[in-house]
Amino acid sequence: MTTTADRRVGPAPDPDTLDPEERMGVEELRALQLDRLRWTLRHAYDHVPHHRRAFDAAGVHPEDCRELADLARFPTTSKADLRDTYPFGMFAVPREQVRRVHASSGTTGRPTVVGYTERDLDTWAAVMARSLRAAGARPGDVLHNAYGYGLFTGGLGAHSGAERLGCTVVPVSGGMTPRQVQLITDFRPRVITVTPSYALALIDEFEAQGLDPRASSLEVGVFGAEPWTEQMRAEIEQRLDVDAVDVYGLSEVMGPGVAQECVEVKDGLHVWEDHFYPEVVDPLTGQVLPDGEVGELVFTSLTKEAMPVVRYRTRDLTRLLPGTARPGMRRMEKVTGRTDDMIILRGVNLFPTQVEEVVLRTPGLSPHFALELTTRGRLDHLTVRVEARPDCPPERRGPAATEVARGVKDTVGTTVEVVVVDPETLARSMGKLKRVYDHRDRG
Ligand code: DLL
Repeated sequence: MTTTADRRVGPAPDPDTLDPEERMGVEELRALQLDRLRWTLRHAYDHVPHHRRAFDAAGVHPEDCRELADLARFPTTSKADLRDTYPFGMFAVPREQVRRVHASSGTTGRPTVVGYTERDLDTWAAVMARSLRAAGARPGDVLHNAYGYGLFTGGLGAHSGAERLGCTVVPVSGGMTPRQVQLITDFRPRVITVTPSYALALIDEFEAQGLDPRASSLEVGVFGAEPWTEQMRAEIEQRLDVDAVDVYGLSEVMGPGVAQECVEVKDGLHVWEDHFYPEVVDPLTGQVLPDGEVGELVFTSLTKEAMPVVRYRTRDLTRLLPGTARPGMRRMEKVTGRTDDMIILRGVNLFPTQVEEVVLRTPGLSPHFALELTTRGRLDHLTVRVEARPDCPPERRGPAATEVARGVKDTVGTTVEVVVVDPETLARSMGKLKRVYDHRDRG
């Protein structure tokens, strides 16, 4: 670990250990992508009735894709399309060739189901191994995997990648927090894979047991599955003494390992473009935006057999930037919001991460906070409940609340109520954190 003027970075992997695709130049990569894209469009058209209907309705045919820019003419796919074809309607191979399915939790109605052939599972393990290596994991490391196992892609996705890289995997999954601390103390993992919110719960548990989390064996944390800010990175790195890097993915496209931040730069996530083709579109019009502009991230899979996705609208907001540590692959900026997490409060747009930034720079406050929306009179009202740090003196709470309210007003432009509550009083997550509780009157 080295510390530059304002941030800490880790050592780059030995260039000889990189995959050939990670070393490709942009032109070579574009040629590979075009070949694979044409295959994907043909495969989707020939084997998935939904895609055939959608292409026909838009008046496009796979043969119309002669260059990468032609992809913009093809229809996008949404989560609703996956729901409408529930459970297996998006599969492009006979069900017998599908080795595994995963599914989203489906809080509203049917879950969305995704499937993988043997080769897809192999690809996934390879890209996830690549991600872990870019994060600073090495063959021979002990890796504590606290992403949830089961239908969620986090646990098994990280697990297969870590085995592929050559790590010793501890498949803990989420929950049983005191036992996780014991296992970290006893097995001495160098790497942890976990959501950033659950990492905080683990750090708190170390402290509750009278142990110094900084003295643990952990050196690298690979955090994803939910938005988190630079302020949260600083908090985790400081309290756990690890390099904290970001991993991104989504079930519909593969799972974790679609894009990864490289530990030697920590400057956004390199998209593994040999398998996943990114576009950014205007969320309202669907128009493709030039690299550098913020919009909704859209992915087309390039090698997936069981469930090819064509221009899948992720609802995640970010922008594409040129590659750095892997010059051929573009980076996506840290995802700090989803179109569906956006709170519209009296006409002003607000993302939970904007509150996170303000809370974490306010002395005396912990990173544990929740947003509660209610209706007062006929107006929307947002209450930010945030826990004091255990060492926060009682007289500091009032000023801290005022500072957060002022910070949100200054950065977002809207008035919120801030209530500082006792430590350990808000719900903790064991996986993805629920930050927003919407109790507004409907109708
Ligand atoms: O969360 C896959 C994953 C597991 C990624 C473990 C990283 C680590 P889904 O449950 O399908 O898949 O949820 C996908 O989670 O569209 C984003 O909104 C959000 N998300 C995932 N990674 C990040 C990240 C997994 N690094 C949805 N930053 C995505 C911000 C993320 N949001």
